[in-house]
Amino acid sequence: RNYKIAVIPGDGIGTEVLAAGIDVLHALARNGDFAISPQQLPWSSDQYLHLGHYIPDGGLERLKTFDAIFFGAVGSEKVPDHVSLWGLRLPICQGFDQYANVRPARVLPGVTSPLTNGKDIDWVVIRENSEGEYAGNGGRVHRGLPIEVATETSVFTRRGVERIHRFSFELARKRPRKHLTLVTKSNAQRHGMVMWDEIFYEVAKEYPDVTTRRELVDAMTTRMVLKPATIDVMVATNLHADILSDLAAALSGSLGIAPTANLNPEREFPSMFEPIHGSAFDIAGKGIANPIATFWTAAMMLEHLGEAKAAARLMKAIETVTAAKVHTPDLGGTATTKQVTQAVIAAL
Ligand code: NAI
Ligand code: MG
Repeated sequence: RNYKIAVIPGDGIGTEVLAAGIDVLHALARNGDFAISPQQLPWSSDQYLHLGHYIPDGGLERLKTFDAIFFGAVGSEKVPDHVSLWGLRLPICQGFDQYANVRPARVLPGVTSPLTNGKDIDWVVIRENSEGEYAGNGGRVHRGLPIEVATETSVFTRRGVERIHRFSFELARKRPRKHLTLVTKSNAQRHGMVMWDEIFYEVAKEYPDVTTRRELVDAMTTRMVLKPATIDVMVATNLHADILSDLAAALSGSLGIAPTANLNPEREFPSMFEPIHGSAFDIAGKGIANPIATFWTAAMMLEHLGEAKAAARLMKAIETVTAAKVHTPDLGGTATTKQVTQAVIAAL
């Protein structure tokens, strides 16, 4: 098959790592039995500064015609972060109902975790990606006055919560340990979070083969650091899982290796695949961004497209390279983006 891939490099190191990702996908396709047709979409902060928009008129309609979306990062020092995020990434996630954000974390061979028991990390963080704290609900009144008030209202729907729980149980069921941790804050947040807990245990009845644990989000951070072996899959809200997955990435060695998939599990719309890191102003343009997160992301995209064999080949090549200590500076090495990319292509 020939897959039509929409490529949105975005800003900063997003452009550097996605170029590397496309090179690796082409190399994989050369000695595999599939092809990819990437199409670059220049939707970025630079474009926004020139034209006043990230996604052009009809942009989402156009995106619908692709098999998958490969995304870099969005964020610029010249545009407020809430403008860039809401201008590009969130309209795609929300417009295409990519409600399941999947973030695997484990310590790749040759990579050092800040934890002494880092080897025990083999997790999947599942983030509710369509509602909750990032529903965009709220407002500000009396701007700048002493009586100014801002509200930021989380929105949780039974439909939204039930489907993310069901997705998480399905995913947990497919893993060897079949264990799922529900992460909420239902002691302090007594409406939406209590509903999360209730619906979780309703859905759990359909999955007697999956063992469960309930953890408050603050306690979960300590469990991740102190008892990593007790965690397999975790499911949490948009905000909580956003934070926990950055922690998971850091504990598994670097933000520069962590991948993510924004899935529309019903496949009504294309899903979007991206490294979890941002545009990294501090290293942009230096050619030293770690492309491993993007390669791992590409493997998740191939898996989603039904190319499991190619995905496994790519993961193996990635692990060969990390094990050989071809590491960028974030992992303590001196390799450039290009050198890591060449090494992965050679390993393929
Ligand atoms: P960031 O992820 O861009 O960078 C955090 C730190 O990690 C920096 O020190 C950076 O150098 C390092 N880092 C990140 N990716 C790396 C890689 N591949 N290789 C080596 N080092 C890497 O997060 P930050 O600094 O908070 O945000 C920068 C911009 O990115 C902001 O505008 C922010 O809004 C945006 N952002 C966008 C995201 C997205 O598009 N999904 C996600 C996170 C942030
Ligand atoms: Mg984040």
